Amino acid sequence: MAIPKAELHIHIEGTLEPELAFHLAQRNNITLPYTDVEHLRSAYSFTDLQSFLDLYYRLMDVLRTPDDFHDLTTAYLQRAATQGVRHAEIFFDPQAHTNRGIPLDTVIQGITSALDAHHDISTDLILCFLRDRPAQEAMDTLHAARPHLHHITAVGLDSAEIGHPPTKFTEVFQAAADLGLRRVAHAGEEGPADYIWQALNHLDVERIDHGIRCLDDPTLLTHLATTQTPLTVCPLSNVRLRAVPTLADHPLPALMDAGLLVTVNSDDPSYFGGYVHDNYLALQHHLGLTNEDLRTLARNSFTASFLTPKRRDHLIAQVDAYVFP
Ligand code: HPA
Ligand code: ZN
Repeated sequence: MAIPKAELHIHIEGTLEPELAFHLAQRNNITLPYTDVEHLRSAYSFTDLQSFLDLYYRLMDVLRTPDDFHDLTTAYLQRAATQGVRHAEIFFDPQAHTNRGIPLDTVIQGITSALDAHHDISTDLILCFLRDRPAQEAMDTLHAARPHLHHITAVGLDSAEIGHPPTKFTEVFQAAADLGLRRVAHAGEEGPADYIWQALNHLDVERIDHGIRCLDDPTLLTHLATTQTPLTVCPLSNVRLRAVPTLADHPLPALMDAGLLVTVNSDDPSYFGGYVHDNYLALQHHLGLTNEDLRTLARNSFTASFLTPKRRDHLIAQVDAYVFP
């Protein structure tokens, strides 16, 4: 059994496996522009974040009914359990669905019915705003989500980063804070270190998603280490989207050496060639991380989570007691 861990950076729409995409397409009478699973998989070759997002949003067309979102979420939880995941903080992109006519109710009801039925993994939901859409649309989405806030722990910020700085969403994140929601944001994946500063100073986030570009700014690096602001790093994603040339070049060891609270996550596992434990193993294989490094990363994943201290400490004790095969 894989080491117990939390997953803190996972887009539920990014867990849509080609087989399930075809199954849902058939169920909903949709014709995908791919002949079969292999043909679709062959499209999973990306040059940057945008080239991935184009396919990611296109394939979402198969998600129409509460059952579709339920089945997607159930499939993720089953996979996650085999990867040692005990707690998952799951992103979803409401605007990617409401903008094509799928009601927010459908999305949330489908996802939460699967989360509630799965008792081995504790979960939180993080509502992400699409940063390449207008700030007013994000504000409208936050208002539309008000009847569902008992299901939602935090807000996040994702989609195409460059040209869409965090400050575009200062008011939306303030409104989310006023509603009692916690805050995270993608920053410094493709965008500059300054976007990380903006997310911290203007959006008041508790974690930075990706954040690898912090290495360009020594003052920021020191700040993140001092404050122990977690980074949710996604190594296989960074290589597939060419933010990093190869795994052997990945800056994760440098981030750990600088004293940051680093976690390892899968981002969009169906598209990037691995779930969360596959990311741990790839780091071990390509960067020589030791078993004790993996234990540190697993411990960090719970420390960086939104869990209550009681469950967090219970799960960290499981990490400490874990015996590697
Ligand atoms: N970055 C930005 N937006 C996203 C990602 C990502 O890695 N995955 C899904 N939406
Ligand atoms: Zn992401």
